[in-house]
Amino acid sequence: MGSTPRRPFYTAFAWAYDLLIAGPVSSRCDFIEHTLVQRGGVLPGARLLNAGCGTGSYAIELARRGYRVTGVDVEPALLLQARTRAADLSASLTIETGDILDLPPDRRYEAILCRGVLNDLVADADRVQAFFSFARALDAGRVLILDVREWNATICRYRQEPIFERSVDLDDGTLTFRSVTHLEPDTRRLLVSERHTLVQGGVETTADHDFVMRCWEKEELAHHLARAGFGAITYAPDYALAPPVDGIASSLWPPGQPGLKKGRRWSIAALQAQSSMI
Ligand SMILES: C[S@@+](CC[C@H](N)C(=O)[O-])C[C@H]1O[C@@H](n2cnc3c(N)ncnc32)[C@H](O)[C@@H]1O
Repeated sequence: MGSTPRRPFYTAFAWAYDLLIAGPVSSRCDFIEHTLVQRGGVLPGARLLNAGCGTGSYAIELARRGYRVTGVDVEPALLLQARTRAADLSASLTIETGDILDLPPDRRYEAILCRGVLNDLVADADRVQAFFSFARALDAGRVLILDVREWNATICRYRQEPIFERSVDLDDGTLTFRSVTHLEPDTRRLLVSERHTLVQGGVETTADHDFVMRCWEKEELAHHLARAGFGAITYAPDYALAPPVDGIASSLWPPGQPGLKKGRRWSIAALQAQSSMI
């Protein structure tokens, strides 16, 4: 991570992450569980890695559904939130500090879930490395589930709505989060300016941060997955249980086709090759 300033969203304001990002965890986990079972034969009781677990929402929900989950993330403040929330799940959930680009060589999982993370990888080398790292950590024939922001859908979204703002009431004040996103089409990068504004006891403090994210296109994703030994790739619109789109029918993408929910996020499942050379 070098000396790049860290994102307040993941550090000083980690305590507010779940207040500001209230995703449909349970229904997404319905999709994830369905995919684990149907695609990978991965049943409750199996070892699952949540790569980039953040505050642990998905790791916790999947542990509650019976999976033996290890959550790994690079951000200590987010992991503290996860550990606090997961205190009653110590038998089925382990939360660890770690980099998904450098997973321990001696541990293998029956499934990997990596959601909301891969857009944080900007450098080409890291985007390649992530899939080799996942392949090494997966048992042969087992399933990787991930999501990414798809570039074309993301352009549509941010051209219409470049500003995102959310306020939450606290016991003793208000927190407002605002982000402004500029598009950089040549590189498929998003240039994001974020501000947290906290008003407590009549005193206002702000934290500003500029950073870069990078979206994905199907060709890049398919290329990296294949290079790392993954196959049988399916694409679904943002955790929609049906219809999953298989490799042949995937020309239906990008989203926006009749019958598919519009969104900038793809949910993708892929199987690790039975006899990996990695
Ligand atoms: C948008 S959050 C998503 C968190 C969680 N997956 C969820 O769905 O709630 C992105 C997460 O990826 C983590 N992350 C980014 N790069 C990482 C890396 N190289 N290794 C481990 N975690 C990483 C961040 O620290 C952050 O927790």
